[in-house]
Amino acid sequence: MRIDIVTIFPTFFDALDLSLLGKAKQSGLIELDVHDLRDSTHDRHRTVDDTPYGGGAGMVMKPEPWGEALDGILGDDTEEEPLVIFPSPAGEVFTQAMARELAAEPHLVFGCGRYEGIDHRVFDHTASRARVRLVSLGDYVLNGGEVAVMAMIEAIGRLVPGVVGNPESLVEESHEDGLLEYPSYTKPAEWRGLPVPPVLLSGNHGAIATWRRQQQIERTREVRPDLLPADEPDA
Ligand code: ADE
Repeated sequence: MRIDIVTIFPTFFDALDLSLLGKAKQSGLIELDVHDLRDSTHDRHRTVDDTPYGGGAGMVMKPEPWGEALDGILGDDTEEEPLVIFPSPAGEVFTQAMARELAAEPHLVFGCGRYEGIDHRVFDHTASRARVRLVSLGDYVLNGGEVAVMAMIEAIGRLVPGVVGNPESLVEESHEDGLLEYPSYTKPAEWRGLPVPPVLLSGNHGAIATWRRQQQIERTREVRPDLLPADEPDA
């Protein structure tokens, strides 16, 4: 998978060199390029924003640097049909299902807005030559798209085949089957007076699977009842 990121804070994404995604980059499973939007400016101050037409608080990102930065990225990829994602609190909400869908894309381009957002013509123009999606991390406002893109890339990247060594570990996680994950324990069997649930030490795989399923349903009912399907049997 190829990933391009356009941002005014390229060092934000240095953290992607760490851990599993760092290894995926090194091995070539994920090819990641971070582009500084200011490299596509041509004035002495490398200006990327200006006051909004119509008035109002804050600044809006100018279209010209975005056009030039995206020209450079999209121009050389006609075969792979890139998908351009603009993180925005006004977008569709990012979910595990969307992460799975995006993990199958050959080329993702993320455009990180700041300030009051990007001049809307950038979305319209980009949509005339590539698929475009506005995606929100959730119903709250961040200072810019960078944190949202980091979260999305982590969620998407780990679903790219080969990135996580044991694919089974992807299946038994919160949201993969629509429920929250069951609680996990490791040694010692008792810690600070707290025992591990005895069923987990029983060696009875059927009983363990039943207990885990019950835990998933109970947890989901307590914390996220909105996720429970109407026909979910009682735990
Ligand atoms: N930029 C600012 N807030 C955001 C959010 N909630 N999701 C994605 N991008 C954002």
